[in-house]
Amino acid sequence: MANDNKKLLLLPGDGIGPEVMVEVKRVIDWLDRNRGIIFDVSEGLVGGASIDAHGTPLTDETMAQALAVDAVLLGAVGGPKWDDLPFEQKPERGLLRLRKDMELFANLRPAVVFDALAEASTLKLDVVKGLDIMIVRELTGGVYFGEPRGIETLPDGSRRGVNTQVYDTHEIERIARVAFELARKRSNRVCSAEKANVMESGVLWREEVQKVRNEEYPDVELSHMYADNCAMQLVRNPRQFDVIVTDNLFGDILSDEAAMLTGSLGMLPSASLGGADENGHRLALYEPVHGSAPDIAGKGQANPLAVVLSFAMCLRYSLDMVEEADAIEAAVKAVLDGGLRTADIMQPDKARVSTRVMGEALVRELGKVAD
Ligand code: IPM
Ligand code: MG
Repeated sequence: MANDNKKLLLLPGDGIGPEVMVEVKRVIDWLDRNRGIIFDVSEGLVGGASIDAHGTPLTDETMAQALAVDAVLLGAVGGPKWDDLPFEQKPERGLLRLRKDMELFANLRPAVVFDALAEASTLKLDVVKGLDIMIVRELTGGVYFGEPRGIETLPDGSRRGVNTQVYDTHEIERIARVAFELARKRSNRVCSAEKANVMESGVLWREEVQKVRNEEYPDVELSHMYADNCAMQLVRNPRQFDVIVTDNLFGDILSDEAAMLTGSLGMLPSASLGGADENGHRLALYEPVHGSAPDIAGKGQANPLAVVLSFAMCLRYSLDMVEEADAIEAAVKAVLDGGLRTADIMQPDKARVSTRVMGEALVRELGKVAD
């Protein structure tokens, strides 16, 4: 009989990656025992961990595995240990290769403020309370991958660093469609951010996004904003936004900013999706927005909720297990409402707990909400 268990590849990576991934495995075990959902879980190395073991941030074997599974779940990559390596060998290149070779062009970064944590934001409560926005970042194009690129030495001995911002119509169209589709399931509004006032690629971006809207999504409200203004509006009045669609570099920056509005980077998940094949199947990688946090790695202090919420996104977008995704998200709310906090989201009069205690509490809540 064919084995149609869902296949997951876990890539814990570096720093706090491995310890937060342990808590995802706890959730996977729970689904296995209580829901009879059996996953085929394999594990691999990425980033510094792979450099130490194999001399490269991602082996061809792991790359091939990533292409063969239903979804990849990644912890975090990077750390001071590998800072001095040449650019092409850095841990981050492993992540960038996964994105590029899997053609994960659509990066979904929700920024949601949980009621229990609204006070933890550096912004005023009335500015962020109830915030729920989705940043859709283009992930395989733009200045991250554009050619020409490099550092050259000029005849006078000085040096020149070059990167190229480049977008073709089809790259803009497909990311715009992802944004419009998502908006239809939310509040039906998209804001597109670029720098059409200084960059030709921004002019094209604006025109193509507008065209997709007019031809295919006339029911969705579309506005355009310069990316710098968007950065400003995000702290001035973030709730004006529903879905923000933007390029790779602006998306990198705006999503960090949006993450901070929520009070903790340790809470935010993300999904990176490829195009759908004829069966509607998309390659996909899920990862927390936070990094490897080398300063607290190995101390049991890391917040496992972002990677657990990334797994919930995986259930929702790749595995069609919406009920289980809802249950995990509800369990996260419940542990927060119950007063448990890891160090990064600690508040007065709350109970500070370790990574493991947070994970165990989450599974207990899962038992309650899933009943
Ligand atoms: C992110 C990160 C990455 C990026 C790094 C680690 C390469 O900042 O996912 O936002 O710049 O895309
Ligand atoms: Mg970033």
